[in-house]
Order: sequence, then C-alpha cells, then structure tokens
Amino acid sequence: MKSKKGLMVLIVACFLFAISFVYAQPQDVYKLHWEGAKLPPTEFTHKKHAEDYKIDCKVCHHKDPNPAEKVAKCISCHDIAEAKNGAPKAETAYHKNCIDCHKKENEGGKAAPTKCNECHKKG
Ligand code: HEC
Ligand code: HEC
Ligand code: HEC
Ligand code: HEC
Repeated sequence: MKSKKGLMVLIVACFLFAISFVYAQPQDVYKLHWEGAKLPPTEFTHKKHAEDYKIDCKVCHHKDPNPAEKVAKCISCHDIAEAKNGAPKAETAYHKNCIDCHKKENEGGKAAPTKCNECHKKG
C-alpha cells in the first residue's frame, strides 16, 4: 500500500513538472481577442513571426529579461480599459507593435497587413 502511494505521488509530480513546460510554450497560432472586444479576433502566427520572419523575442516581449524562459502576457501590464503605470492601454500597445512594424516591412517590399479588416477578420 505504502509504495503504491509513493508511486502515485511520483506520477502526479512528473505530470505537474511536464505541464509546467507545456504552459511555458507559446502556441503556434493565436486568435488575439479579449472579453468585450468589438471587432473580430486577430490571427497571429507566433511561430512564423519568431521563426520564419526571424523577429527577436524581445521586440515584442520587451519587458521580459529572458523570454525563452518566461514571459508575461501583454495585458498583464497593458490594461484593456486605460493606460496604467506608464503602460499605454492594450489596443494602443498592440497596434503600435503590430502595425508600425508591418508598415516598415512593407516599405521594404513585404505585404504585411495594415488595414483594419486584414487583421480583424470575420470567421
Ligand atoms: C511579433 C511579436 C512576438 C514575437 C517576435 C514573439 N512573441 Fe511570444 N507572444 C506574442 C504575443 C502577442 C503572445 C500572446 C500572449 C499575450 O497576449 O501576451 C505571445 C505569447 C508567448 C508565450 C505564451 C505566454 C502565455 O502566458 O501564454 C510565450 C511563452 C512566448 N510568447 C515566448 C516567446 C519567445 C521565446 C519568443 C522568441 C523565440 C517570442 N515569444 C517571440 C508576441 C510575440
Ligand atoms: C511588465 C509590463 C509589460 C509587459 C508584460 C508588456 N509591456 Fe509593453 N509597455 C510597458 C510599459 C511600462 C510601457 C511604456 C514604455 C516603457 O516603459 O517601455 C510599454 C510600452 C509598449 C509599447 C510602446 C508604446 C508607445 O506608445 O510607444 C509597445 C508597442 C508595447 N509596450 C507593446 C507590448 C506588447 C505587444 C507586449 C506583449 C507581447 C507588451 N508590451 C508587454 C509594460 C509592459
Ligand atoms: C517586428 C516586425 C513585426 C511585428 C512586431 C509583427 N509583425 Fe506581423 N508580420 C511581419 C512580417 C515580416 C510579415 C510577413 C510579410 C510578408 O511575408 O510579406 C508579417 C505578417 C503578418 C500577417 C500575415 C501573414 C501571417 O503570418 O499570418 C499577419 C496576420 C500578422 N503579421 C499579424 C501580426 C500581429 C497581430 C502582430 C502583433 C501582435 C504582428 N503581426 C507583429 C512582421 C511583424
Ligand atoms: C496588424 C494587425 C492589426 C491591424 C491592421 C489593426 N488592428 Fe486592431 N487590434 C489588433 C490586435 C492584435 C488587437 C488586440 C486583440 C484583439 O483583437 O482584441 C487589436 C485591438 C483592437 C481594438 C480593441 C478590441 C476591440 O475589438 O474592441 C479595436 C477597437 C481595434 N483593434 C480597432 C482597429 C481598427 C479600427 C483598425 C483599422 C484602423 C485596426 N484595429 C487595425 C491588430 C490589428
């Protein structure tokens, strides 16, 4: 009985250890959206941006000392309703991050989305 219990504890511990890694991984694709948002969600290809477009993690995760280990969600600092503690509100932060870079890339001949309905797509 005793060793069975010990085994169970070990299994649970291994499981928790494993999911702590799963949670530290970004999804390949996000549907960026928050509760109460008026427009449709924005698809964001995390994997492509980091790997194919070769954008450094810190360009976006700009307050995290080591994004490969741990990142904080944008909206943990960028409040949805208003600017707080010097951080612009979430809509402003996202638009600056995404659209400013896209505009710059497009001057260099790329075709990254800059129009509202290219990002906020229905369906
Ligand atoms: C172009 C911007 C951008 C780049 C580049 C980027 N990320 Fe992200 N990352 C995001 C956004 C947006 C999210 C969605 C979660 C959020 O709202 O904060 C995210 C989510 C994550 C998450 C999941 C966070 C959670 O709590 O669910 C991790 C981990 C992560 N990124 C790590 C990385 C690492 C490591 C790199 C570099 C290899 C990287 N990111 C590059 C924008 C970016
Ligand atoms: C730990 C808190 C924190 C997190 C997490 C965070 N930010 Fe910020 N962000 C700030 C603060 C504070 C500022 C104000 C300028 C500064 O201190 O760098 C800022 C400024 C910005 C700016 C510049 C805005 C402007 O008007 O020039 C952009 C763009 C931005 N953040 C995007 C993001 C994105 C995208 C994410 C998530 C991938 C994110 N931030 C995560 C705190 C944070
Ligand atoms: C530092 C630059 C940079 C940032 C920041 C950035 N992107 Fe991009 N994005 C690109 C590049 C480069 C492309 C590819 C354009 C091409 O191939 O013509 C792209 C393409 C896209 C595309 C179309 C292709 C695809 O992969 O789906 C979408 C949608 C997109 N980005 C959404 C976003 C969103 C949403 C954000 C903010 C959370 C964001 N991007 C932030 C550089 C950036
Ligand atoms: C490069 C992609 C991109 C473009 C272009 C873009 N947005 Fe956004 N927008 C986002 C992201 C990412 C968010 C944060 C997550 C979300 O969609 O709710 C956001 C959030 C918002 C929000 C707050 C959430 C909501 O739906 O109420 C509004 C309003 C908004 N955008 C309006 C616009 C308008 C209007 C335009 C055109 C002038 C536009 N956006 C262009 C990516 C984009």
